[in-house]
Amino acid sequence: MRILGIESSCDDTGIAVIENNKILENIVLKQDHKHGVIPEYAARQHHVAIFEGVKSVFKNIDLIAYTNGPGLIGSLFVGSSFAKGLAYGSNIPFIGINHLEGHFFLPYWLYHFDLPFLALLISGGHSLLIEVYDVDKYKIISRSLDDAVGEVFDKVARHLGFDYPGGVHIEKAALNASHLFEFSFPNSMIDRDEFSFSGLKTAAIRQISINDSDEKKADFCDQFQKHVAYLLIEKIAKFYLKNQIKNWVISGGVASNKVIRSLIEEKASMFGAFVYYPPVELCTDNGVMIAAVADLFFQKGFFVSSQYNLKPFCSAF
Ligand code: KG4
Ligand code: ZN
Repeated sequence: MRILGIESSCDDTGIAVIENNKILENIVLKQDHKHGVIPEYAARQHHVAIFEGVKSVFKNIDLIAYTNGPGLIGSLFVGSSFAKGLAYGSNIPFIGINHLEGHFFLPYWLYHFDLPFLALLISGGHSLLIEVYDVDKYKIISRSLDDAVGEVFDKVARHLGFDYPGGVHIEKAALNASHLFEFSFPNSMIDRDEFSFSGLKTAAIRQISINDSDEKKADFCDQFQKHVAYLLIEKIAKFYLKNQIKNWVISGGVASNKVIRSLIEEKASMFGAFVYYPPVELCTDNGVMIAAVADLFFQKGFFVSSQYNLKPFCSAF
């Protein structure tokens, strides 16, 4: 079964082809991020990029999978209309895939570990902890009451004068930390089930400014990302002690942060748990994760073709 995956939920366009658990093609066409994500502009860019990307890989495709939500309605509309038109014209089936399922099922598709697993999805739009029992059976056990982790990285980065996506620039700046300056960050909701990151954002922004020295910014970025890791780890540990699920999946754009990865791994090894991450280039939005969920559905016999509806706000999330 050769599957074409089309991801167009936000700004970047992801086009991928998979077959027999192998990635044959993976193209991510990045949009100009200078002014952040502008929904109308993003949709128009997808319109051009999808056509160019698919044209170069469309050969012997058996199934087309596209993102049906959550995301920006215009961007979703472009991707789904293209996918359905192409499927109809080529006489092959199509399936709408949930973007978040794409993020947290991708490591399962890549590495084939045992179910259940505990998934931490940390992206620009979501911060979720999920107990996953099967491809069609999972339960959200924690979510953010306010900002998503990636959103806080982006807002703090913008305050520092860094470009979008902020997390990348914060991680890079932190490499130059000299440990001369000290910052303090709140442990918001540390004892509760839910996440909260807006207090962290406010506290962070109050302690640094765009005019501060590069040395001070580097120390700030270092301590800020380590504190984010600490908050995430405390939450995973809290649920792990309840459910004893030993396979952990960390996914979404923020999971590409190497410091956060290694601190979570340290904690997992203390518990004898195993952590599975997508490769860094597949942490952010891509077409492979969309095709992978379609493949899992198909392998498990849960395949349903011809879903016509878009879900810009998915109520389950
Ligand atoms: O999963 P993703 O590509 O898009 C959404 O579905 O939201 O995640 C994008 C988010 C952005 O907020 C970006 O700042 C964050 O992932 N991000 C990072 C890093 N790379 C991307 N955050 C921290 N460290 C990174 N290295
Ligand atoms: Zn995403």
